[in-house]
Amino acid sequence: MAEETTTVEETTADAPVVRIGDVAAHAGQRVTIQGWIHNRTDKGRLQFLMLRDGSGLIQAVAFHKSVPADLFEQIGTLTQESAVRVTGLVKPDDRAPSGFELGVDGFELVSLAEADYPIQPKEHGTGFLMAQRHLWIRSQRQTAILRIRATIIKAIRDWLDEHDFVLVDTPVLTPSSCEGTSTLFETEYFGEPAYLTQSGQLYNEATAAALGRVYCFGPTFRAEKSKTRRHLTEFWMVEPEIAFADLEDIMEIEEQFVSYVVQTTLAKHRDLLTDVLERDVSKLEGIQGSFPRISYDEAVERLQKGDYPDFPWGEDFGAPHETFLAEQFDRPVFVYHYPTAAKAFYMAEVEDRPEVCRSVDMLAPEGYGEIVGGGQRATSAELIERRIEEHELSREDYQWYLDLRRFGSVPHAGFGLGVERTVAWICGLDHVRETIAFPRMLEKIYP
Ligand code: 4AD
Ligand code: MG
Repeated sequence: MAEETTTVEETTADAPVVRIGDVAAHAGQRVTIQGWIHNRTDKGRLQFLMLRDGSGLIQAVAFHKSVPADLFEQIGTLTQESAVRVTGLVKPDDRAPSGFELGVDGFELVSLAEADYPIQPKEHGTGFLMAQRHLWIRSQRQTAILRIRATIIKAIRDWLDEHDFVLVDTPVLTPSSCEGTSTLFETEYFGEPAYLTQSGQLYNEATAAALGRVYCFGPTFRAEKSKTRRHLTEFWMVEPEIAFADLEDIMEIEEQFVSYVVQTTLAKHRDLLTDVLERDVSKLEGIQGSFPRISYDEAVERLQKGDYPDFPWGEDFGAPHETFLAEQFDRPVFVYHYPTAAKAFYMAEVEDRPEVCRSVDMLAPEGYGEIVGGGQRATSAELIERRIEEHELSREDYQWYLDLRRFGSVPHAGFGLGVERTVAWICGLDHVRETIAFPRMLEKIYP
C-alpha cells in the first residue's frame, strides 16, 4: 500500500512557496501556495478551489488526470477553511481576479476543517458576524479593511516622523481624567483607584516641554454610554503636541497631515477601495490643500438658518449637526472657538472672550463627523486651577500638570486623531465596528 501513496515531496518538489499576491512574478512557473479553502466547486473530473492566503485569492484547478488519484480523491473532500498546500503551474487568466490561475499537479492537506464553518457564502446579520468576529476577519472585505488600517497607521507615523515629531509613549494606567470624569473606566491600583487613559495629552504636554514636538499613539478608553456608529469604548488615537504653537499652527499641520494620510492610502490601495469596498474614491481625491474654517458662532448660524432653527448657542454638536455642517463642504471642515463650557478643562481662552476657547475640531465629509479634536492649551496656572475647581477635579492629582505652567510655560497646542473614525471615512464604512480587528463597544467584549 505504502508505495501507492503519493508523498508530498514528490508533488511539491522544486516549486517555491509563493504568496498569492506575488504570483504575477512567477507566471509560467510551478509554485506552491499555502492557504485556506475559501470555496470549492466539484465538477466531477475537475475540482475548482478558491484559495486565500491573506495576500489575495487565486483559483486552483485540479484535473483528475493531472493529479495522482489518491490526492484527487482527497481534494474532493475538502471543506471550507481547510488548510492546504497546493502546487501547480501559474497560468495567466484574464477572467481571474488575480489575473492568474493555478493548474494543480500537487497537493498536501495541512488540516481538514470541520464541516460546520459558521460563516457561509451568503448574507449574515451583523450581530451574528460580530459574535463570529474571530472568523469573520478572514473575509475578503474584512482583510481589505485591516490592510488599509495598517497603511493608514503607517502613513500617520511616517508623516510625523518625517516632520520631526518624536514618538513618546504615554501611560495607559492613570491617576486622573483628561477628558471629563463621566467616561472613565475605573480599575484598582494597589488599593487606590486608577483609570484607563482617555488621552495621552496631559503627558504629551510634559514631553513637548522636553522635546519640542512629540506624539503619542496608542489605545485610549472611554466608557461611552452611547451606542452609535462612531463610538467605541477602546479606540486608537494619535496625539501630536507642539511647543510654541498656536491654534492657527495646528490647523495648518492637521490639514497637511490628514491630506497626506488620505492620499498615501489612496495611492496604495485604490484597487482594494474600489473593487472590494466599492468606495467612491473620487470623494477622496480632492482631500488636499487647505480645508475650510468656520467659527463655532458661524456653525451655529448655519444650523439655525438650516435644518436646526432651535439649536441653542453653547451646546456641543451631535452627530446630525456635524453631518449637516460637513455636507456643505467637499473636504474636511475646521470648526474653531467652541464654547469654553462645552470643552475640557485645559483649553486656552480666546482673548477678550472667555466664553469661547481656542479649540478646533475637524469634521470629515460624508457624515463621518469629528475625526480630530484639539486646540491651544491654557498656559496660566491660575486659569487651570480655576478650571480644575469648576470641573470638580481633584487639585492634588494635577500638581504635576500645574508644574508645567510654573517652570517655563509656553504657548503650545496639539490634537488627537481617532484612527477608527479615519478608517471608517477613508474606507466608506457605515460603522466603526469594522475598522478594528476586535472592536470594544457598549456592553460588548466578546470575542
Ligand atoms: O476630541 P477628543 O476627545 O480629544 C482629546 O482626547 C484630546 N485630548 C486630543 C488632544 O488634543 N491631544 O478625541 C479626539 C478624537 C476624536 O476627534 C475622535 O476621532 C476620536 O478621538 N474619538 C473616538 N473614536 C472612537 N470612539 C470614541 N468613543 C471616540 N472618542 C473620541
Ligand atoms: Mg472631541
